[in-house]
Amino acid sequence: MKILVLCSGGDAPGMNKFVWSLYKKFKKETFYAYSGFSGLVKGQIFPLRNIVERKSKNCAGIVIKSSRCPEFKEEKFFKLGLANAKKFDVVVILGGNGSEKGAKALFENGVNTIFVPATIDNDVEESSYSIGFDTAVKEGIYAIKNTMPSIYSMNNSCLFEVMGRKHDAICQEVAKAVQADYVICNKESLDYEKIKDVILKKLVRSDSACVVVRENIVEVEKIAEKLNLMLGADIVKTQVVGRTQRGGEPTARELKLAKCFAKETVRLIKTKVFGVRILMNDKDETIVKEFI
Ligand code: F6P
Repeated sequence: MKILVLCSGGDAPGMNKFVWSLYKKFKKETFYAYSGFSGLVKGQIFPLRNIVERKSKNCAGIVIKSSRCPEFKEEKFFKLGLANAKKFDVVVILGGNGSEKGAKALFENGVNTIFVPATIDNDVEESSYSIGFDTAVKEGIYAIKNTMPSIYSMNNSCLFEVMGRKHDAICQEVAKAVQADYVICNKESLDYEKIKDVILKKLVRSDSACVVVRENIVEVEKIAEKLNLMLGADIVKTQVVGRTQRGGEPTARELKLAKCFAKETVRLIKTKVFGVRILMNDKDETIVKEFI
């Protein structure tokens, strides 16, 4: 059996655990495409044993590298990738909803693919969980908890920008955990008058507002600039949590769920079930569904 694995899109903490777990089961039968679909297109395919190592299995990042590969949508590049994918009995693809489309396209063209949700954004349809989400939330909480004491001491308020692309899962989860005073998770919730009121109410009590903002709505610096103008004082600070959400040390839950996804992948490979997505239900159980 020849098994190929690749990671696509933004890296996600827990990916290393998954790849290591797969390697441990199939050893010399496993190969990887360097840096996702890009390596598949270029034929940069190598044995996993050359790169995986026990010491990085619980670390964030991904040793086989990941990338975004928009050209994979173009026929010329897709065909190159397809020819390389066809050399394998199964191709395991880790990523978010964009990568899922790539996995589906390969399957529809005769490749035995298995798709595994792995993106901090948790934006894979029908799955309650994707590898990386728990750690990204933990890092968001950590950044806020380590910033607010300073904000409070200076009588300021703060806007925290968290990742998530166009999806608000990280933003909502972080806001809930830190009991944020206001959440900007979409354009509609960017109500300057309301936010100003929240900040003022806190200020009169010598307190500070904590506002969690999803990225890609309006830059937090611009939101703060406008609020400071409305308030007539420079009291609204900003903090972009950024890539610490991807680079953060995986949580125990993350490692456990990555291992669950790997265990299910092993089962599917052994029973020769292909052309599927491994998803997770609300009870943290893996479920298997066809591509939609
Ligand atoms: O998809 C994961 C993610 O971290 C998003 O939350 C974010 O919008 C994006 O990747 C950033 O991508 P890049 O690191 O390629 O700029």
